[in-house]
Amino acid sequence: MQKKSAFGLAETMIGGNLDSVARPDVIPDYLEQRYWWAYLHPRGLRFFEQQWVINAILWGNYAHLRDAALNELGPSIDGRTLQVACVYGNLTPELAARHQSGAQLDVVDVAPIQLENLHGKLTAGRTVLHCQDAANLRFDDASFDQVLIFFLLHELPMSVRKRAISEALRVLRPGGKLIFVDYHRPVPHHPLRYLMPLVFKTLEPFALDLWREEIADWVSTGTQPKSIKKQVYFGGLYQKVVMLK
Ligand SMILES: C[S@@+](CC[C@H](N)C(=O)[O-])C[C@H]1O[C@@H](n2cnc3c(N)ncnc32)[C@H](O)[C@@H]1O
Repeated sequence: MQKKSAFGLAETMIGGNLDSVARPDVIPDYLEQRYWWAYLHPRGLRFFEQQWVINAILWGNYAHLRDAALNELGPSIDGRTLQVACVYGNLTPELAARHQSGAQLDVVDVAPIQLENLHGKLTAGRTVLHCQDAANLRFDDASFDQVLIFFLLHELPMSVRKRAISEALRVLRPGGKLIFVDYHRPVPHHPLRYLMPLVFKTLEPFALDLWREEIADWVSTGTQPKSIKKQVYFGGLYQKVVMLK
C-alpha cells in the first residue's frame, strides 16, 4: 500500500511503499531557475524521458557512456551502491538489475517528481529512493561500497559541486569506488568544439567548468582518494573518472 504525506512524497520509498514521513528538501535555486523545464515540469519530464531524446542529447553516446559506468561496477554488484541524482533513460533499471540478491541500490534526488518517475521505471531488485540533496547527504560516513554520479556535476554551481563530491567521498567506505561520468574538454579539432559552448551558455550555465578544470581539482584537501583514473570518450567530449578511496 502506498502512503502519501502532506507533501505528496515520502523521504524514502522502497519498492512501491513509502517508508517514512515526508521530508522533501527544498529545491535548490539553480535547479528551479535554470533547469525547471528539464527536471521539474511534468511535460519536460515526459519529453526527456524517452530513450531516443536522451541519446540524441549525448550525440548517440548514451548506451556507451551508461555501459562505461556500469562495467566499472561489474556484471554482478554486491554490497550497497549509491546513485547520486536520477537520470533519464534506462541507466538505473540496468544498474538495479546488476545487483545480486542481498545487495542494495540507493538513489537520491532533490526533486520529488524525479523520484516518482524513477519509481515507475523500476521493476526488480531492492532499490531505495531518497529525497535528499547531493550536497548534504543524510547517510553515515562510509556506508556505501560504491557511488555513481552520472552527468550531475555539470549542472551544479561550483560550491554545490564541491560539496557534492565531498559528500560522495564521505559516505563511501575506504577502498570503495566513486565513479563520475560527465562532460569534458574535447580535442581541438572536434566538430562540436564550437557548438557545445553555445549550447552550454544557453542551457547549461555551469557546464563549461568541466572544460576548464579537472574533477580531481574539486576534491577538498584532506579527503584525497588513494587513486584517480580518467578515461575520455567521443573525442574527449565526455569523461569517466574513477576514484578509489
Ligand atoms: C543527473 S542530472 C542530469 C542527468 C542527465 N541530463 C540525464 O537526465 O540523463 C539531473 C538530476 O539531478 C537532480 N539534481 C540536481 N541537483 C541536485 C542536488 N543538489 N541533489 C540531488 N539531485 C539533484 C535533478 O533533480 C535531476 O533529477
